[in-house]
Amino acid sequence: LANDVYKHNFPSTPLWAKTIEGITLKEFDKLSFDMILMSPPCQPFTRIGLQGDVSDPRTKSFLYILDILPRLQKLPKYLLLENVKGFESSSARNELLQTLATCGFKYQEFLLSPTCLGIPNSRLRYFLIAKLHQEPFSFQAPGQILTRFPDKDPEDLLKEKVTDKVGETSSSLSSEEKNLDPSIGPDCSSKKSLPKGAFLFKLETVEEMERKHNQDNDSSIQMLKDFLEEENKDMSQYFLPPKSLLRYAFLLDIVKPTCRRSTCFTKGYGHYIEGTGSVLQTAVDVQLESVFKHIDELPEDEKLMKLSTLKLRYFTPREIANLHGFPLEFGFPEKVTVKQCYRLLGNSLNVRVVAKLISILLE
Ligand SMILES: C[S@@+](CC[C@H](N)C(=O)[O-])C[C@H]1O[C@@H](n2cnc3c(N)ncnc32)[C@H](O)[C@@H]1O
Repeated sequence: LANDVYKHNFPSTPLWAKTIEGITLKEFDKLSFDMILMSPPCQPFTRIGLQGDVSDPRTKSFLYILDILPRLQKLPKYLLLENVKGFESSSARNELLQTLATCGFKYQEFLLSPTCLGIPNSRLRYFLIAKLHQEPFSFQAPGQILTRFPDKDPEDLLKEKVTDKVGETSSSLSSEEKNLDPSIGPDCSSKKSLPKGAFLFKLETVEEMERKHNQDNDSSIQMLKDFLEEENKDMSQYFLPPKSLLRYAFLLDIVKPTCRRSTCFTKGYGHYIEGTGSVLQTAVDVQLESVFKHIDELPEDEKLMKLSTLKLRYFTPREIANLHGFPLEFGFPEKVTVKQCYRLLGNSLNVRVVAKLISILLE
């Protein structure tokens, strides 16, 4: 399906419907390519997954590339790899670094999110860029993983914003993303009288509320409304059904068009609710707090009536594509269902983050 979408958008680009292992060394040599861009299966490295790492069969295609690379007649000049956070501590990553060193590549690793570019979406990912036989990158920080894009003045970056343990320094990651690292607690020391971790309403703690509030007031990040479709479009299919509202209301990350944040959209979005991405409150004048306070004490029909006043809907595939940085010309073939669009977008990279990394690579 991903190939069909690719073909639809790039009809004149040759596309081989093959697995990587199905391409022989000879065929690779014939292609004589300059760049490898790869986003190999991430399940072996996710923190929720079983962390099979190099022994997971899904890592095979990646290991095949590592095996082929030193044996190519002509090495590519550039390489970019994307993966989930967690890849940086895998043996697959160590094998990659070893292969790059053997072949004479200079490399730099990053942990970046679209928030680094002022986009109101958290999608923290590991990236590695590498180039062949050249001077090191001007900003290169050996052994360290950068958590933001290098500045024009490389000195600035090295002075304060470099870390080898993500989350320990200030960076342009959103506070939510810094908090993903279990080694650091929420950075807002609460002076409120409520005990730390106490729920306010909707199972939200003081710390979470404060974090969201800070994100929404960070004017270096755009508002979600810049990424939304026109209001006059028929959105009826995107509104949350009553069953989901009743069952999952407390677990939803609810954002308004004026918010400057959204959580990572995964491939279960629109289908599974918990942790798959934010939902949009379209009744902007309704106070979340007034809806959720004491809602548990109400009978089901009244609960539903209250929750319905928020007019919650899913982000449309086009809106997620906008947040991912896809240009307006990008589209899905007609036969692709909404559910399939969400699945594909959940696998996607942020186009603007990758574009910026490629431009750094080619500088
Ligand atoms: C994490 S997803 C990355 C998807 C990509 N970022 C995108 O937006 O389409 C990993 C992709 O690797 C593909 N894949 C898995 N094993 C493969 C193999 N042996 N050869 C080629 N592709 C493979 C999967 O089909 C999946 O699309």
